[in-house]
Amino acid sequence: MMITLPVFIEAGLDLSTSAVLSMPYDGMEIYSDDYKLPDLPYPYNSLEPIIDEATVRVHHTGHHAAYTKKMNAALRQWRVDPDTDHAGLSSKSILDILTKIDEVPEMYRNAIRNNGGGFVNHNLYWSVMAPSPDGEERLPHSDLLNDIQADFGNYTAFKQHFTREAAKLFGSGYVWLSRQPRDGSLLVSTTANQDSPLSQGLLPILVLDVWEHAYYLKYQNRRPDHVSNWWTLVDWEVVAEIDAWWQKTVHDEL
Ligand SMILES: *[C@@H]1O[C@H](CO)[C@@H](O)[C@H](O)[C@H]1NC(C)=O
Ligand SMILES: [Fe+2]
Repeated sequence: MMITLPVFIEAGLDLSTSAVLSMPYDGMEIYSDDYKLPDLPYPYNSLEPIIDEATVRVHHTGHHAAYTKKMNAALRQWRVDPDTDHAGLSSKSILDILTKIDEVPEMYRNAIRNNGGGFVNHNLYWSVMAPSPDGEERLPHSDLLNDIQADFGNYTAFKQHFTREAAKLFGSGYVWLSRQPRDGSLLVSTTANQDSPLSQGLLPILVLDVWEHAYYLKYQNRRPDHVSNWWTLVDWEVVAEIDAWWQKTVHDEL
């Protein structure tokens, strides 16, 4: 499968197109001067016992909210700077801006990388999880499972690879499953801090937050226990929708 690196819907385009898009990146492919912290698609206590209510609540209303606020502030500063090219990258969506983070002027770059990444990364993180009332792990099916098997051998090998990367990651960061636009293959990778795989030309479809704020209250230093339990929360239906979203998203020839 070939997919080209997307250039996202630009400011002023008909917003009705976003109605067909699936949840986590909705609105982020469009210019905004005030991106909103999205509500979680489930109650704060519904990821129990794997992630406790207090952790989910402070992660969303504390950490994610702060990234959202600081991102909006940094974008605003950049956009009102008289030296900014107002028809250039600053007029684009946060997804576009993260994709071209190296082109953001140095004085705004770190704030946007950290807080824009924190905003977008957490949106994906919340989206790919769903309560699992029976405690059963869900499995990917059909096309996505075939692709996982083609690129990693089998589902178990994929999970082991992803889990090993989570354990190995030093400090704070994320483990990702992304599409590579070059040939449509799947790649497991990690990023440090709030860096986004978008900035490496990848299209992320699954993420695990391994910052301590994601698990420390319940698991303390037992990150591997958290990771092995987390698989029960992964909603592969949503992951497949996100995968399809990237392929539907407005493409342009770069
Ligand atoms: C899955 O792949 C791994 C690594 O290639 C291999 O060791 C294992 O036997 C495979 N498992 C199954 C069920 O095929
Ligand atoms: Fe986080």
